[in-house]
Amino acid sequence: MAFSLPPLPYGLDALAPHISRETLELHHGQHHQTYVDKLNDLVDDNSQTNDDLEAVIHAADDQHVFDNAAQHWNHSFYWQCMSPDGGGSPSGELAEALDRDFGSVDAFTKGLHEEAETHFGSGWAWLVHDGSKLLVTSTHDADLPLKHGQKALLTIDVWEHAYYVDYRNKRPDYLTAFFDGVVNWDFVAQNLKAV
Ligand code: FE2
Repeated sequence: MAFSLPPLPYGLDALAPHISRETLELHHGQHHQTYVDKLNDLVDDNSQTNDDLEAVIHAADDQHVFDNAAQHWNHSFYWQCMSPDGGGSPSGELAEALDRDFGSVDAFTKGLHEEAETHFGSGWAWLVHDGSKLLVTSTHDADLPLKHGQKALLTIDVWEHAYYVDYRNKRPDYLTAFFDGVVNWDFVAQNLKAV
């Protein structure tokens, strides 16, 4: 066994027109696959699988191992943050928690949109739980909430490879499409329940 690329939880055409087949083919089939391949090349123990990924991230004292392991985790999580049935508004306990910690659901989505839009360079924008409340944050390159004692509930990939094919340099248009068309609130609600 070894680390492996998880299949997308939907078809390559399922997120169009918000996220195209070409973007998913490149992003999942090439970028994510490359992180998995490099991680397998870097670690000596080929008995490790995706179930060991968080332990590898915590233990990594080599930057290359950390970067490739973290990018494997981040992308595996990101695919689940989108759905062909996505978009709309959060409801139930998730909406109540967002109201409580951000004032309103709209204030939260505006805050996450701004965090993702203004994040300088490559990285990830997140909704996290810090142990007592929900927070909007972002991380650079491969860094992730797991390394900061936070539980990830939702992420948006803001590396250019996530949006350049469909939106060129217009990151705000990608973010609008993410929120309007594909964001998977059911997955976020499920993550909140597990906190
Ligand atoms: Fe990516």
